[in-house]
Order: sequence, then C-alpha cells, then structure tokens
Amino acid sequence: MDVLVIYDSFYGNTLRVAELYQQVFADKGISVEVKHVSKIEPEDVKNKKLLIFGSPTRAFRETPGIRKLLTKKAMPLTNRLVFVFDTRIDPDDTNSAILKRFVKWFGYACDHMEKQLKKRGAHLVSKGIGYHVMSAEGPLKQDVSMKVNQHVAELINHLHS
Ligand SMILES: Cc1cc2nc3c(=O)[nH]c(=O)nc-3n(C[C@H](O)[C@H](O)[C@H](O)COP(=O)(O)O)c2cc1C
Repeated sequence: MDVLVIYDSFYGNTLRVAELYQQVFADKGISVEVKHVSKIEPEDVKNKKLLIFGSPTRAFRETPGIRKLLTKKAMPLTNRLVFVFDTRIDPDDTNSAILKRFVKWFGYACDHMEKQLKKRGAHLVSKGIGYHVMSAEGPLKQDVSMKVNQHVAELINHLHS
C-alpha cells in the first residue's frame, strides 16, 4: 500500500505527528512517505492508495499552504481515499470562555480540510483526528503517541474492510 502524508508545520509538532504515523505504519509493514505541503506536485499524489493531510489549526482552520493545495485544480483528488489530522490547543487548558465559544462556531483545521476534500470528490476513510499540544509552540501532549498507534490500527482496519 502506498501512503503519502502531506503536512504543514510552524513549530514542528504536526511534522512530529506525521513522523509518528510513518513509524506506526512502518511497524505494520506499510511504508509511508512524509512530505511538506510546499513540495507536493500532482505527480506525487497520483499513484498513492491513501493520502493523509496534517495541518496545525491556526485561527480555527488549516494553514494557507494546505488550503492552497486542497483548492488547486491540478491536484488529482477526485475519488481518492483520504484522511486528515490536525494539531490544536485543548480548550479545557485555557480559561477563555470566548475561545471555547469560537471553537464551537469556527472549528478546527480538520473540519475545513474534510469539507474541502468532500467538495473535491475525495472519499474520507474515517473521521479526522485532532492531537493536542501543550501550548502554541508545543510540545505534543504525552498521550499523542498512544493515540496515533490506536488511530493507525483503526485506519488500516477501515482500509481492509
Ligand atoms: C497564530 C496562531 C493561531 C492559532 N490558532 C489556533 C486555533 O484557532 N485553535 C487551536 O486549537 N490552536 C490554535 N493555535 C495553536 C496551534 O494549533 C499550534 O501552534 C499548533 O498545533 C502547533 O503545530 P506546529 O508546531 O506544527 O505548527 C494557534 C497558534 C498560533 C501561533
């Protein structure tokens, strides 16, 4: 199975999650390529069985780089199997009631990536996942590695069912 993780990252946390995906898939005998969004060409995407998009949540959505890629006409996304994840702050870690309300209204990078991918005719293998960072610059919360293990196992099950 050919899997490509397309990621964007400012402080390295989303890259770290992408690499965890790569490692966990590899443990199960599946090789995964991890590539920064700025380096993706339509050719890279063409022959992959599964495309995974990872973005930090910034201002309640995906990064401009990921958004640009998902709206690029030349990117062959129709009928492709896709999955998304993001990194984000846990609203329970902040004392801001207004932030909690904004999150409810505007969501996370995952929501916008999924919406755009559906619009492009891609097929979501399963619901996108958000991984928590301790603060804007990270690090990732301790449970992230365990969660990625679990989510990759679920993804593989979905792909084989
Ligand atoms: C300018 C800015 C805006 C952010 N907006 C959000 C947001 O709307 N929701 C959220 O949960 N986290 C937000 N964060 C926290 C980011 O999600 C966090 O920096 C990111 O997960 C780190 O990933 P990275 O190291 O891959 O860039 C924001 C951080 C910055 C610096």
